[in-house]
Amino acid sequence: PIVPVILSGGSGTRLWPLSREAYPKQFLPLVGDDTMLQATWKRVASIAGAAPIVVANQEHRFMAAEQLRECKVLPQALILEPVGRNTAPAIAIAALQALAGGNDALLLVLPSDHVVRNEAAFHAAVKQAAVAAEAGKLVTFGIVPTAAETGYGYIKAASGEGVRAVDRFVEKPDQATAEKYVSSGEYYWNSGMFLFKASRYLKELETLQPAILAACRAALDKAARDNDFIRLDAEAFAASPNDSIDYAVMEKTADAAVVPLDAGWNDVGSWSALWEVSDKDADGNACHGDVIALDCKDSYAYGNRLIAMVGLQDVVVVETDDAVFVGHKDRVQDVKEIVGQIKRDG
Ligand code: GDD
Ligand code: MG
Repeated sequence: PIVPVILSGGSGTRLWPLSREAYPKQFLPLVGDDTMLQATWKRVASIAGAAPIVVANQEHRFMAAEQLRECKVLPQALILEPVGRNTAPAIAIAALQALAGGNDALLLVLPSDHVVRNEAAFHAAVKQAAVAAEAGKLVTFGIVPTAAETGYGYIKAASGEGVRAVDRFVEKPDQATAEKYVSSGEYYWNSGMFLFKASRYLKELETLQPAILAACRAALDKAARDNDFIRLDAEAFAASPNDSIDYAVMEKTADAAVVPLDAGWNDVGSWSALWEVSDKDADGNACHGDVIALDCKDSYAYGNRLIAMVGLQDVVVVETDDAVFVGHKDRVQDVKEIVGQIKRDG
């Protein structure tokens, strides 16, 4: 059976002022009425063979539990990290937990902050991947790149159709390399979603990252368990190296495979990305909340109070209780700068 593993540990600040450390984007209803965490579960509910394993930061435990309750799913485990150690350990914990339940399930690893517009296409790709994963492959889902983004992993697939062996996996290349990869037409972006058997991932860690595996084993063995949460042992988990699955495993394994995914995937890494995936009116405006847009084009507005805008093109307006952001759609990456400045100034 397929067990979804939902990773909910990020603290995205690229969607400031909405997304904050205390309130990262996976807990926000950015597209439609569901939060991104809820949409992540709903997207796989019909292909999941069991309740999900959710791995989250302990600071967010009530928000995570409540949001899952709202969409009527009781996770088989809601595992709390005392500190973030990135995705390689988070997934290790989920795999150990799945195996402890006596079941070497296929784990479908899902970031909780992505949009996938075409659910049917996504399900078809997972079904294809399942065959390879059962045969012992570590399967990732490849997206045809549209730009030389440096924040993604790049995958060179062996020639062929359907599920293919990975010739090369390069996490977050520099700009020049990303440009070379994209113009070669030979590379996919790594979507950040994976499918493999729990035992297979752990075996790979045993060879490639024994320190991560040992720390995660200890953290789960000594975890405090109550009805709602599994709280990892803080000292043991903190001893794990901090690394992502991409660097720690996918770049190094000889058994990676990739399934092309053409399903309207977007990791919503900026306000302009969010504009792209949102429903728009006839003038290309995406409005979330109470918005009057007069003679506006290709703009984005998000807020609780009434937002009224006139004569704007390619502008983003985001209103929250304590901050308002207004910016050009081409400059939304600079939100990083703003957040940095706010942190410096206190
Ligand atoms: N539980 C837990 N603990 N989850 C975590 C942690 C952690 O310490 N760190 C990150 N996550 C979750 C995030 O919430 C997110 O849902 C997912 O894991 C991926 O983490 P990111 O920090 O967003 O990774 P990235 O965007 O830099 O890169 C990954 O995603 C790209 C596509 O969006 C990589 O897999 C890239 O190769 C990929 O292209
Ligand atoms: Mg990301």
